[in-house]
Amino acid sequence: MKDKLGREINYLRISVTKRCNLNCSYCGSKRITKEKELTPEEIKILVSAFAEKGIKKVRLTGGEPLLREDITEIAREIKSIKGIKALYITTNGILLKEKALALKEAGVDGVNISIDTLDPEKYHELTGVNKLSAVMEGFYEALKVGFSSVKINSVLVRGKNDTEAERLIALAKKNKADVRFIELMPFSEQGENRELVITEKELLERFSYLVPLKENEQGAAKYYTADGFSGRVGFISPRSRKFCKDCNRIRVLSDGKLKPCLGNDKTYDIRPFISDKNKLSQIIDEVILNKPVSHHFEDGDFFRGLNLIGG
Ligand code: 5AD
Repeated sequence: MKDKLGREINYLRISVTKRCNLNCSYCGSKRITKEKELTPEEIKILVSAFAEKGIKKVRLTGGEPLLREDITEIAREIKSIKGIKALYITTNGILLKEKALALKEAGVDGVNISIDTLDPEKYHELTGVNKLSAVMEGFYEALKVGFSSVKINSVLVRGKNDTEAERLIALAKKNKADVRFIELMPFSEQGENRELVITEKELLERFSYLVPLKENEQGAAKYYTADGFSGRVGFISPRSRKFCKDCNRIRVLSDGKLKPCLGNDKTYDIRPFISDKNKLSQIIDEVILNKPVSHHFEDGDFFRGLNLIGG
């Protein structure tokens, strides 16, 4: 369905857990309180209700979604819902090698893997965990099992991993995978320092051989290619190129709260209405209709801690 501004909302992101097996400096996560995560059954009811409103694409996020033992069951349930055409997962890749095939078989169409550096020591420093090799094995396994899309998400932070851009881009040259640079968002103190943000413009100046693709689909990422590249290079630039007017997303958090905008504090608890189809339908209508116009990263009026939101 459309919101008040005429934006067609057809993409639902569900955070299935706040838990994470990394501790990335830019994430802004604080100590996580225990919560009752949505069950596969509850997720199925919610996604069915959203599918009736025109949601066609679902992405599972976290925290780290692969920490859920029942992640394949969740995927299978979602994919069986009428109207859901595509299902994706965003993961840090640590557990991907062992789970990729089962996810593919459960109906997951693609994975986005967060990789900010290809240097094992730097990875350890940035994430708190010395497991880059497990992530890379997960990436290659994802390519092998044949997902229709494999993407790498990278957040560059000036002075920390901005020198990694070149090597990350090389992954898109060699593999049928997209590498996307996401501008650092202000979810932690680090992100509040604008000087640490590496902008799309800066990268395009540095890698001037990249040429924009003609068939750029509408959405957050703008894609580029270059001679001899198997994959694409993408830019997601919420700071320097706001894409709010094209935003087609809505989010459900792991505790059942509905969050219509990543960069806005407002959430709506819809869990109590899971057993009441009419009420659920009504509240979804209201929240979508009144989706905020745009994010407020500029003035700091938003919620911190990305693990609580799910990217
Ligand atoms: N700014 C931009 N992207 C971020 N991510 C996590 N924290 C931030 C931040 N402060 C990214 C992760 C992951 C995706 C879900 O969100 O790297 O790829």
